[in-house]
Amino acid sequence: MPLQKSPSPGRCHIMWRAKTGRSGEAVTVINYIHPRAAMGKSCTIGFYSVVREDVWIGEGTSIGNNVTIYPGTVVGENCFIGDNCVLGKQPHPARTSTVRPDGLLEPLRLGAGSVVGSGAVLYAGTVIKEEVMIGDLASVRERCKIGRRVIIGRGAVLENDVSVGDYSKLQTGAYLTAHTSVSARAFIAPMVITANDNQMGRTEERLSEKRGPCIEEGARIGAGALLLPGVRVAAETFVAAGSLVTRDTRPGTVVMGRPARFVRFVPEKEKG
Ligand SMILES: CC(C)(COP(=O)(O)OP(=O)(O)OC[C@H]1O[C@@H](n2cnc3c(N)ncnc32)[C@H](O)[C@@H]1OP(=O)(O)O)[C@@H](O)C(=O)NCCC(=O)NCCS
Repeated sequence: MPLQKSPSPGRCHIMWRAKTGRSGEAVTVINYIHPRAAMGKSCTIGFYSVVREDVWIGEGTSIGNNVTIYPGTVVGENCFIGDNCVLGKQPHPARTSTVRPDGLLEPLRLGAGSVVGSGAVLYAGTVIKEEVMIGDLASVRERCKIGRRVIIGRGAVLENDVSVGDYSKLQTGAYLTAHTSVSARAFIAPMVITANDNQMGRTEERLSEKRGPCIEEGARIGAGALLLPGVRVAAETFVAAGSLVTRDTRPGTVVMGRPARFVRFVPEKEKG
């Protein structure tokens, strides 16, 4: 793909002067585009955005206002990045956090044709495939792997080391704890909660015992359901809204209640 270098190599602060304001006066707007950043043809960028060194932005991508793109981040062709997004942020865990900083992570990679809503924060070390849709205010932490055509709803939170398979859908406010694994074509309804630490931070053993839930291919998790640490939601399971899943499920079953129990099999016509 032909790339254009940043508009003025050698200068870090790029002043983009709009010809006239509404009332005819000259308006000066400052973006920061590092001279080593590369932006493809016909990219557009809003006002007050920062594009750091070695960022690569594919042809036809549109970047909103007040966006920060950290060093080395790769944004594919024809993406849309909404206002106030942060792309490629390195994590800064608290001193007391169980997440140990491990040097600088690889830059974020965002696949071609992806859409990122306003105010989303995507961390370094994460790889997001093509045509993914990420809603406003969503957050995807470090070392996540997101498949193609995944939808991550508004305000959804994916903690570190989460994987989500192709075509899966996470709706508004879903919470995936660290090390959750979601296979392809799963459906996760609004405000689903997952947990990974049975001892809630009180013993050292928990560090080796922390396990996120595993949601297998085509499983559907109803609104507000809660999955406990390490449970395996088998392929094509239907977890009823509000259920508390304490045990592994069997493939193709409907489970319901608190704790969730088998109620019937999923009809064949509902299976993907
Ligand atoms: C599972 C579900 C489809 C209902 O199944 P159903 O078998 O048709 O349930 P019914 O309405 O016939 O109710 C059967 C019984 O189960 C109870 N029940 C229904 N849904 C329940 C649930 N989620 N949790 C606990 N009990 C439930 C009913 O109260 C009823 O009990 P009763 O016989 O004592 O009155 C529904 O609860 C559900 O989870 N839908 C998914 C909604 C969702 O999260 N969508 C996400 C996108 S918005």
